[in-house]
Amino acid sequence: MTSMPRFVVTIDGAAGTGKTSVAQELARRLGTDCLDTGAMYRAIAVLSVDQGIAPDDGVALAKLIQELGIRFDWNHEPASILLGGVDVSSRIRDLDVSGVVSIVAKQPEVRKVLVEQQRRIGEEHPLLVTEGRDQGSIVFPDAEVRFFLEAKMDERTKRRVKQLRESGKNVENSQVLQDISERDKIDSTRTDGPLTCPEGAIVIDTSDKTMMEVVDSMEQSVRTALPT
Ligand code: DC
Repeated sequence: MTSMPRFVVTIDGAAGTGKTSVAQELARRLGTDCLDTGAMYRAIAVLSVDQGIAPDDGVALAKLIQELGIRFDWNHEPASILLGGVDVSSRIRDLDVSGVVSIVAKQPEVRKVLVEQQRRIGEEHPLLVTEGRDQGSIVFPDAEVRFFLEAKMDERTKRRVKQLRESGKNVENSQVLQDISERDKIDSTRTDGPLTCPEGAIVIDTSDKTMMEVVDSMEQSVRTALPT
């Protein structure tokens, strides 16, 4: 793989469209790493909650994040995320963190730091699958293959509830629906890097498809585009 020119696959979409699971499975099949950029914004939200920094204080958060550092441990599958050397992979999924992450992700200072870091990670990977909201539109506009995932709201809520309960979190449907709706609104209306379908992206509605069906079709598109 090291001899391969850089090849980036982006997967964007709203919460609960299945992005994270399909991105991880696609990366596994391609034998490469999956960059979960939402986890990076969530790690900053952990900082905001745990250190009492206002989620809209982009300057303070960006400064602290540069001091502490966010990094991934690629030896784990999925990669674990470390904030100042501490593994926060589970903490980032807590509802108090989800509750402020959209505000944190709206701050231009925070986005600037993370976009630069995501591009650096891209440079370190000859082949990378990356998922988020702005990967195909802003971070890697020249990505070889760009996907945009969509799904119906009730399906998205169901998936998120299942995912949270499986990880041991006690959540109600209505609570998760409210969290998703609020984040959708903030994510798609912010001025810096809003959630949008990138130009030339392959759009997939995942509502009535299994994760494996979605990944099968994505894998086919990627293999067709990969240099031989
Ligand atoms: O995908 P997720 O739910 O883990 O994302 C967490 C939050 O981070 C979500 O509110 C959107 C934001 N986000 C973003 O603004 N840009 C990205 N590239 C990824 C996530």
